[in-house]
Amino acid sequence: MHVTPIGGPAGAVTARVPAKVNLQLSVGPRGPDGYHELVTVFHAVSLFDEVTVRAADRTSVTVTGEGGQAVPLGPANLAVRAAAALARAIGRRGRSAAGVRIEIRKRIPVAAGLAGGSADAAAALVACNELWRAGLSLQELRDIGAQIGSDVPFALIGGTAVGQGRGERLTRALASGSYHWVLAFGASGLATPDVYAACDRLRAMRSAASGGAGDGEPGPPELNTELMAALRSGDPAAVGPLLTNDLQAAALSLQPVLRQALAAGREHGALGAMVSGSGPTCAFLAAGAAQARELAVAITGAGVCRAVVQVNGPATGACLVDGRRRQ
Ligand code: C5P
Repeated sequence: MHVTPIGGPAGAVTARVPAKVNLQLSVGPRGPDGYHELVTVFHAVSLFDEVTVRAADRTSVTVTGEGGQAVPLGPANLAVRAAAALARAIGRRGRSAAGVRIEIRKRIPVAAGLAGGSADAAAALVACNELWRAGLSLQELRDIGAQIGSDVPFALIGGTAVGQGRGERLTRALASGSYHWVLAFGASGLATPDVYAACDRLRAMRSAASGGAGDGEPGPPELNTELMAALRSGDPAAVGPLLTNDLQAAALSLQPVLRQALAAGREHGALGAMVSGSGPTCAFLAAGAAQARELAVAITGAGVCRAVVQVNGPATGACLVDGRRRQ
């Protein structure tokens, strides 16, 4: 019998996956499942993690790179959960059949509002789909990914897309052009549930302050059609002022120093400045590559961030590193 070896050296398969920022993040009321109804515009940027998988007797995971020591190595690891969910979905039974050695190389910081954990889960799905010759479609991987985390389906498709529900119901956005971003990483992370809880607290306080007149109560979130038009035009100067994030006030309440980072960016010509997702990463939109370089220097000079990087968007979603992409 002839067996074609899978993957690269020693049967390894590697997938690369981008970070995301949210160009709009509108947070509705908390639902009975504890999740908030969202309308968001996801935008993938060129900051990538890599995940390599190999067949093994038992499942294990190692994490190196940016913030790697903070990532859980047990069953709570999102890449491990993703591999296990895929194994279940394709009916791989028994420990040895489903065993996989997972190596995660991180450049996306942990607990940063950039969906790094979801990205690793997405990359694990793409890599294991190849390793196990499962042949699942992108849509099938998205369905499995949605069980792992709200941002996993987007990490699989990348580009620019509107997310609804918990963020997992996606429609590709008609966006043109390329966008130059500066990302400023906070000194410490923020846990997403803490930021949503702070958002709820701030809303309850506003509601109480208005005598219960309902000012703090969010209505159902709506897509900003002006932002969508600006994205279609491909003009960063039109997009910049329309960036919004309902979690920003909550993230700033937990890490007030972020205000200084946002102010430094605005002072130095950012077309838009916002907290990315649940934070604490701050994202700044620049007019072009040269302006992004100047902004990065100025924000670094403000001395309130741990590190500053320049990235571009939109980036493509999780894909095999040798260029083969499962559609
Ligand atoms: O789906 P994921 O595990 O990434 O979500 C992390 C946490 O973020 C959830 O446990 C929840 O507290 C919060 N969240 C939310 N509403 C959403 C998405 C996430 O409240 N739509």
